Amino acid sequence: MSNYVVGISGGSGAPYTRRVIEGLVQAGHDAKIVVTDAGRRVFEIELGIALTGDPAEDTRILADNLDLGSGSGSIELFGQRNVAATIASGSYACEGMVVVPCSMGTLARIATGISSNLLERAADTALKERRHLILVPRETPLSLILLRNMTAVTEAGALVMPAMPGFYHLPESVDDLVDMIAGRVLNGLGVDSTLLRRWQGIGD
Ligand SMILES: Cc1cc2nc3c(=O)[nH]c(=O)nc-3n(C[C@H](O)[C@H](O)[C@H](O)COP(=O)(O)O)c2cc1C
Repeated sequence: MSNYVVGISGGSGAPYTRRVIEGLVQAGHDAKIVVTDAGRRVFEIELGIALTGDPAEDTRILADNLDLGSGSGSIELFGQRNVAATIASGSYACEGMVVVPCSMGTLARIATGISSNLLERAADTALKERRHLILVPRETPLSLILLRNMTAVTEAGALVMPAMPGFYHLPESVDDLVDMIAGRVLNGLGVDSTLLRRWQGIGD
């Protein structure tokens, strides 16, 4: 069992967030979660789950609304302004972090080391400690500024994994598309998940 930090910022993609958290917890891991104000806004629009900004209350709300299974994994939310939280420190024992979705604003602040809230500080810490840091942006089209920011975080050691599902697995539903991205994220974090369908290849 390991700890993983999950950052939720204000990009579109809350269905991915839900599946990543469920995948981590169902695999027996602990998800330490921090949500930005814009992340809460989009989360409610896209999933109909209204988080309050109060960490203890939001932990209960997510536990009630997500399918976390009955294993040993758990979730815990932290306030985005609580830069004194455990996950802000390089001494915190953690396998890695994913920001899903990663808004272009959050990505820009991670790229420049601004650390203006707990999510950005935890991402900065993941980079300096050379831990897994996966960023899942969703934006189109991409300006030169956004492309440069993605290059900067990649050079610093992050893995940019855009929310771009493929169609070669012949998805039959939106859930299939969501699971394709969530499975790739979990695989990138080194977490076993049934969400990842590995391509079996096709002969000539
Ligand atoms: C419904 C909705 C959808 C949004 N979708 C995106 C998006 O896909 N990508 C993005 O970068 N920003 C998106 N935004 C804008 C961000 O939420 C906004 O830039 C915000 O300031 C990001 O703040 P944060 O980085 O602190 O979470 C969206 C906003 C709303 C309200």
